[in-house]
Amino acid sequence: MVKTAMTVISLLVACMVAVSPIAEAITCGQVISGLAPCFGYLTKGGAVPPACCSSVRGLNNAAQSTPDRQTTCGCLKGVYASNSGINLSYASSLPGKCGVNIPYKISPTTDCSKVH
Ligand SMILES: *[C@@H]1O[C@H](CO)[C@@H](O)[C@H](O)[C@H]1NC(C)=O
Repeated sequence: MVKTAMTVISLLVACMVAVSPIAEAITCGQVISGLAPCFGYLTKGGAVPPACCSSVRGLNNAAQSTPDRQTTCGCLKGVYASNSGINLSYASSLPGKCGVNIPYKISPTTDCSKVH
């Protein structure tokens, strides 16, 4: 868990540096901090905490444009790829559990440039 937190924090910093500060564009930091309440579910399954679902819904609402979706995709991909504790079958079921329809599948092999 400490390792996961460290990975998340270093990703957060990397993303904050990489994403240019355009107002209103979604950032990796928002995506990752939004997912924080979801880590328990993503690693162990079980019930999805309400705080996680409200973040997932918020992120989905915030990421409506193609660049925002691509940013979100890239962030999630990075998080999933660098946290071996995350079970991808839980990750892919998460939006559905929260009643959110995400029009693309995120996996470590998703080509985010094809997300629109
Ligand atoms: C992920 O969760 C599914 C469903 O509970 C389980 O069958 C699978 O073994 C898990 N995979 C890993 C890598 O833990």
